[in-house]
Amino acid sequence: MIKVNDNYLKLPGSYLFSTVGRKQREYEKAHPDRNVIRLSIGDVTQPLAPVILEAMHKAVDEMGQAETFRGYAPDLGYEFLRDAIAKGDYHSRGADISADEIFVSDGAKCDSSNIQEIFSLHSKIAVCDPVYPVYVDSNVMAGRTGTYDVETERWSNVIYMPCTADNDFAPELPKETPDLIYLCFPNNPTGSTITKDQLQVWVDYANKVGAVIIYDAAYEAYISEENVPHTIYECVGARTCAIELKSFSKNAGFTGVRLGYTVIPKELKCGDTALHSLWARRHGTKYNGAPYIIQRAGEAVYSREGREQLKKQVAYYMNNAKTIYQGLKKAGYQVSGGVNAPYIWLKTPDKMTSWEFFDYLLEKANVVGTPGSGFGPSGEGYFRLTAFGSYENTVEALDRIQKM
Ligand SMILES: Cc1ncc(COP(=O)(O)O)c(C=O)c1O
Repeated sequence: MIKVNDNYLKLPGSYLFSTVGRKQREYEKAHPDRNVIRLSIGDVTQPLAPVILEAMHKAVDEMGQAETFRGYAPDLGYEFLRDAIAKGDYHSRGADISADEIFVSDGAKCDSSNIQEIFSLHSKIAVCDPVYPVYVDSNVMAGRTGTYDVETERWSNVIYMPCTADNDFAPELPKETPDLIYLCFPNNPTGSTITKDQLQVWVDYANKVGAVIIYDAAYEAYISEENVPHTIYECVGARTCAIELKSFSKNAGFTGVRLGYTVIPKELKCGDTALHSLWARRHGTKYNGAPYIIQRAGEAVYSREGREQLKKQVAYYMNNAKTIYQGLKKAGYQVSGGVNAPYIWLKTPDKMTSWEFFDYLLEKANVVGTPGSGFGPSGEGYFRLTAFGSYENTVEALDRIQKM
């Protein structure tokens, strides 16, 4: 008889944002008169920049003509986009990444969950705690994480690297040696970053112990401080130990458009096997490429007008971040993040659990945020607000929170 992949049955509860969404809908149904403001999921709200729309319209027209029509995209993505990425995101920062080390995809969620497939099921993973839940969940589905302890909310075969106020939300090198290390900076959910020197310590460590770092730089565009690296390849030796993931969702508003990429340097090897070849094989077999129209839109991100228009969009969200940060401080909360990231991370007051504070905030201020515990056990007692709302809603939400 057919059997399901019972690793899926081990997953506790439903996906964090489904639960947050369900609770919000239930509340709105019970209180139709209240205007609920959503500062929870990290979804953008500003429309696509004009230069991107222009590129998309042009590409749509091309698809309507036999001479310029495009079918399946090349396996790694169109060269025009990979060239623009190599120049715009790497060469401009002194990082030595070539266009043929870039794999274009439809976003970083898929890449961050699929990348584990090219590693042995016996690999031990290390994750920041709290962090974007996809890293752990995708390894659970693959059967790599051991058993789940409901009490501690931890998997037996996962190395958790706590990131709390005690260590300034920066992970320490683990005592037990991992095979795969997931790092995400600027971090979702804490909004924290590490300096280039701190990241260099991780690169040196990974090269020393033979581990691979999966570096998720989805929020790179929000970095405002000088000494924070925009890519792990700014660090010496990263080409032999790091894979980098990037998304167009947060820097260009592509959450509904879908575009991302993964970088695997050709020197990155497990024994004699180049990980670049494995991922190319996987990509070629299981993926048929991001649409031409969307890849042209991605190219426009790197044009001069694209950069200017998107800088304004990022500044808009970061102004929200400042509004949230300062508003919460004024209201007496212990707050971090919001300087190099669109996320503000606050300590729940009066020892409330993260979900207790979720209910409290929804009831008293009609504001929806995200409970920190949903991102990992060390997120308990914390709460995340996003800067991706409209300015007006952000100001209104903070006004309500200050009056609670
Ligand atoms: C750390 C991190 N990586 C990846 C993603 C997903 O990005 P994409 O929209 O490209 O799938 C998110 C989305 O919130 C994220 O927070």
